[in-house]
Amino acid sequence: MCGIVGYVGGQCALDVVLAGLRRLEYRGYDSAGVAVLADGGLASAKKAGKLANLEKELADRPLPSGPTAIGHTRWATHGGPTDANAHPHLDNPGRVAVVHNGIIENFAALRAELAERGHALGSETDTEVVAHLLSEAFSSCGDLAEAMRQVCRRLQGAFTLVAVHADEPDVVVGARRNSPLVVGVGDGENFLASDVAAFIAHTREAIELGQDQVVELRRDGVTVTGFDGAPADDVRTYHVDWDASAAEKGGYDYFMLKEIAEQPKAVADTLLGRIDAAGSLTLDEVRIPDSVLREVDKVVIVACGTAYHAGLIAKYAIEHWTRIPCETELASEFRYRDPILDQRTLVVAISQSGETMDTLMALRHAREQGAKVLAICNTNGSTIPRESDAVLYTHAGPEVAVASTKAFLTQLVACYLVALYLGQVRGTKWGDEVRGVVRELSVIGAQVEEVLATMEPVRELARSLADKNTVLFLGRHVGYPVALEGALKLKELAYMHAEGFAAGELKHGPIALIEKDVPVVVVVPSPRGRSVLHDKIVSNIQEIRARGARTIVIAERGDEAVRPYADHLVEVPATPVLLQPLVATVPLQVFACELATARGNEVDQPRNLAKSVTVE
Ligand code: G6P
Repeated sequence: MCGIVGYVGGQCALDVVLAGLRRLEYRGYDSAGVAVLADGGLASAKKAGKLANLEKELADRPLPSGPTAIGHTRWATHGGPTDANAHPHLDNPGRVAVVHNGIIENFAALRAELAERGHALGSETDTEVVAHLLSEAFSSCGDLAEAMRQVCRRLQGAFTLVAVHADEPDVVVGARRNSPLVVGVGDGENFLASDVAAFIAHTREAIELGQDQVVELRRDGVTVTGFDGAPADDVRTYHVDWDASAAEKGGYDYFMLKEIAEQPKAVADTLLGRIDAAGSLTLDEVRIPDSVLREVDKVVIVACGTAYHAGLIAKYAIEHWTRIPCETELASEFRYRDPILDQRTLVVAISQSGETMDTLMALRHAREQGAKVLAICNTNGSTIPRESDAVLYTHAGPEVAVASTKAFLTQLVACYLVALYLGQVRGTKWGDEVRGVVRELSVIGAQVEEVLATMEPVRELARSLADKNTVLFLGRHVGYPVALEGALKLKELAYMHAEGFAAGELKHGPIALIEKDVPVVVVVPSPRGRSVLHDKIVSNIQEIRARGARTIVIAERGDEAVRPYADHLVEVPATPVLLQPLVATVPLQVFACELATARGNEVDQPRNLAKSVTVE
């Protein structure tokens, strides 16, 4: 949510910052802006709309070239997406420029105070107060990093701030509390960004900034202190293990298409190194001692959006394989209902970005109550894993499209591994049973590949439904969260009314929505193993068909019992019942992507959304 870039070094700073913003546009795309320090002054430009609007503005009215610049791509919170509300925000003399991600909760009081002292504020944002406060603080201390520390001590809420001052032309200063900010360490140049993707083309060495820290960037050095001015003692450099090509479209029209195609590899990479030669699980990263895991008497999964759907599926596996009660809860609801947690509760926080504010707040609450927190995360060094007791990284690589695909599949794999590991440690699963599931998991990559190779009829079907208003999704057991995920994808991308239901709930209301030709996607469980589930859903298909629905049935290859009732049959390879979401979700991703394209929507950057939601 909002992308931030800062640069100081020997290259044209504006070019570096604009290229970085292009990579961060997934974080927000309501407006964009830049500020450059050059010729003893500060020049800036900002424009409502996508980055392309700003680039056009800069082509028409170029800014001077200089070694220091900052930039921002916005997802609006305070104030609509207008030119005036776009970042950067400047002080009245136009010497300070600041960009911000997050929400400054006490901005109204600060604004009133500034107005009383004669400052003229021209936007509706919470950010602008920071430019004015920095300007005042700099006038008295003459040091931008110190001014930033003084200002941060006055701010409440969540913020990443990056600022420059015309009187310190070779300095960029950043600060963070509860919002992401990473330093890129170069040779004679340094970078600041919300995400390493912004500078990965220049350096793969990065520094994680801690909570309540201020960083001063010069060409030849990086200084980190706390908000209180004390030098930071926990500055850690790490090497980013993917390169610029991973964050490119690589010949695909959209990142989403590329990320869907990358799923077999992402699944395989997430299993890599976690299974030993004998086929047993070795989750060395889970630094929670086995003795603690043996005592766990409740698992609570917290997550948002697509990650929440992964958590809903995990509940079935955890309870079945470990016999520990498991709840999955929306992170945004969790802490406000005063959940019952103690030292024997294991909280699993699932997040692709590792920055989702609601998930972060949920895990903090859990830890305060004494629970142990295990993060499942795709972003190395992000806040959620850093604040958890342990982390299991998914190895999906960078996910850029706003709608999550490969991260979801790898979250599922990680959830299955956690469930099996708990079963292994607690002795509710025999070694050969664990090895059996692991074997099934290790062929999933190839099975996803098979699904991907048979998607043309799904794309054709999606195109034929482009003028529909509603699509419904039904599922039972683990197929129910798959139905929810299918509906979410369609809402996000195609802006259609799409709802997922537990098929058993059909007769308690949703069946009233069925009328002639309403497309209904039904996720059918395998007829093997849980035949009761299968029989029930076949009855549900008949019920909706009798009322005119057009049925789109996702079923295991060879499931002849559903064929007569499917207007469109999408076959997926046979898997164990619990693992079916790994193959059944893929056609729904392709379906939503193609429908959105057919409706002329922007697949990678759907309206009103942002990939990383860093405000509550
Ligand atoms: C946003 C994204 C979703 C994502 C959710 C949770 O809403 O658009 O794709 O599932 O945030 O994000 P996280 O990074 O915590 O997995």
